[in-house]
Amino acid sequence: MMFITWLPVIFVFFQSIYGGHIETVAASGCQNCSIHLTCRRFTSIIGILEASFVPDTVSNSTIVSSFPLPYPRQCLNRRCSGNNYCSFILVEDCPGANFWGEGTLYIKYVCIEDDRIIKYCNSDIILPDLRHTGISEGFIRNPGYPRFYGGQSPCRWRIKAPTEQKIKLTILDISVIIDNPSNQDDCTKDHLEIIDSDIVVYSTCQQREPPEEIISISDSLEVVLTSSQRLTPLRGILLYYTALGCPTPIPPADSYLVFINDTFAVFSCCVGYVFPDTGTKSRELHCWGSKWNEMMPLPNCEQLEFPVAAVEPLPTFPKMAADIVAPILIIGALIVINSIVLFFIYRAKQKNETKIKDEEIGALNSKEMTHVL
Ligand SMILES: *[C@@H]1O[C@H](CO)[C@@H](O)[C@H](O)[C@H]1NC(C)=O
Ligand SMILES: *[C@@H]1O[C@H](CO)[C@@H](O)[C@H](O)[C@H]1NC(C)=O
Ligand SMILES: *[C@@H]1O[C@H](CO)[C@@H](O)[C@H](O)[C@H]1NC(C)=O
Repeated sequence: MMFITWLPVIFVFFQSIYGGHIETVAASGCQNCSIHLTCRRFTSIIGILEASFVPDTVSNSTIVSSFPLPYPRQCLNRRCSGNNYCSFILVEDCPGANFWGEGTLYIKYVCIEDDRIIKYCNSDIILPDLRHTGISEGFIRNPGYPRFYGGQSPCRWRIKAPTEQKIKLTILDISVIIDNPSNQDDCTKDHLEIIDSDIVVYSTCQQREPPEEIISISDSLEVVLTSSQRLTPLRGILLYYTALGCPTPIPPADSYLVFINDTFAVFSCCVGYVFPDTGTKSRELHCWGSKWNEMMPLPNCEQLEFPVAAVEPLPTFPKMAADIVAPILIIGALIVINSIVLFFIYRAKQKNETKIKDEEIGALNSKEMTHVL
């Protein structure tokens, strides 16, 4: 048991969709263990997604009056964010953490490949639409991160999503000059601004826990980092952006859109057509984040190979009765009529024979018979 708690545990998750450019890693360790955060590629940098300290329940006496609050993100960002590797000991790297008692620090971080980070000011980030392939997420950092930030003019980034999609921004790290630490909103010198449709929707100079998430109202956002000095020896900012919502898919040939909302869509093929891969008439799509759960474009509806009769269900009993009883009745009636006719023919013949015997005159025969019939 001791052995397990002392050794930092590291798990690696691969996000295959992104070709390994963004790799999520989980690590954990005790409060005085050395936890190593590393990225396999030399060109990748660390971004802290989650950091939480969970005290051991057995020693809860010290945690009751814990001060400061156990938010290890700040100390982790200071030591690890933007680097390729780092080692972290909670009680040493986080002032005040020795008051939190014994416990486990859980960290989830991301290794960001260089090509997934926008690192130049005044960049336009155009997120791909249905007709263009590409990745709808990435990271933004200021030039100099995590060693310094600055510049004489504000550093701007514009993110544009396809219409019908929104943008979600997450402030993973911000470290700029703070004018007034007691008031989070008092940021007169250096600050980060998020602008949506020419309106400043968020402004800060301090890290929040959990990290602040901003969802755009329109399909574009502007990020502005303002610095008062040419060069400030603080990290600056690291943001994560992603598209939210799925654009309306183009209906495949011989189909139409039945229903759509933010998370769900239904298509139906025209009468006599089906989706060739599933053989069904309708198709449901679910929107996960910014992607439909199916490859786009959808396959075109195709005409059924066999006419409708081939797949028609077995006739029900009333229908069967009508189909079978009617011919039987007709056949029966015909048999009866035939029998009557045969009977009269037979009787006529008999009469005829007796008449021939009696009178032996053939000329009357035909007249008699037509009379009888
Ligand atoms: C970690 O802390 C525990 C309890 O405070 C102590 O018993 C142990 O020796 C410490 N380990 C290290 C490596 O400092
Ligand atoms: C932990 O806290 C609970 C209630 O808050 C208390 O009953 C228990 O005795 C404490 N355990 C220790 C080891 O202090
Ligand atoms: C979309 O429609 C589905 C099915 O009617 C429903 O379950 C879902 O809650 C809807 N989502 C939104 C965001 O309205």
